[in-house]
Amino acid sequence: MENLLIVANWKSNKTLEEAKNWLEELQISDVDLENKEVVVCPPFTLLNFLKDEIISKNLPLNLGAQDVSSFGPGSYTGEVNALQLKELVRYVIIGHSERRKNFGEDDSILAQKVSLALSQGLSPIFCISSADMSVPNGVKIVAYEPLDAIGTGNADTPEDAEGVAKKIKERSGGVSVVLYGGSVEADNVVNFTKMENINGVLVGGASLSASSFLEIVKNA
Ligand code: PGA
Repeated sequence: MENLLIVANWKSNKTLEEAKNWLEELQISDVDLENKEVVVCPPFTLLNFLKDEIISKNLPLNLGAQDVSSFGPGSYTGEVNALQLKELVRYVIIGHSERRKNFGEDDSILAQKVSLALSQGLSPIFCISSADMSVPNGVKIVAYEPLDAIGTGNADTPEDAEGVAKKIKERSGGVSVVLYGGSVEADNVVNFTKMENINGVLVGGASLSASSFLEIVKNA
C-alpha cells in the first residue's frame, strides 16, 4: 500500500516565532506514522529554519514549497527557482487555485513550473479543482480541491471526491497519487483517506494549529 500523504499548506501565514511554537507543540515523534508521510509547506522565509530543525531533531517531517518560479536562475526579481528549492524541499505545490486566481497563473505558466521542478528532481503537487482540468506531463501527485470547499468549512462529500480522484487517475496515466483538499479537519479526514482512490489530504486552515494538524495526522 502507498503511504498516505498528509500535507500542511500554511499559505501566507506564520512568523519565525510562530513556526517555532508550532513545531514545539506538534509532538509528531509520539505518533505512529506507519504508512503515513507528513509534509509541511511553509512560506519560503521559514524553509531554512524548518529544514535545520527537522535535521537536528530528526523529526519525521518532509518539506514542500508553496510555489516555484516559472523561470530558472537569473534576472527575475522576487522569484525563487527550482534549483534553489531543491536544496530545501522534496515537494512543491504548483497551480493552487489561489495562485491561478490572484496571480494569473495559466496552463502554460503552470506547465513551465512543473517542467522546471521536475528537471531539478522536485515532486510537484499539482492542484486542480475539477477532473477535466489539464495536468502537465510528468506529474504524479495531484491535489483535487473544489473551489467552494477551500477555507469554507464546506468540504466536498467523500463519495464525490472519490469519483473525481478515480477519474483523474483514469484520465492522466502518470498520476498515481490523488490528494483531497478543502476544509479537511480532524473529524472528517478519515472519510476521505479511507476511499480507495484518495491517497492523502492537503490541509490549509486546520494545519495552522499544531494540535489540530496532529489530530488530522493521527486520524487519517
Ligand atoms: P483549507 O485549504 O483546508 O483551509 O480549506 C486547503 C487548501 O487551500 O489547500
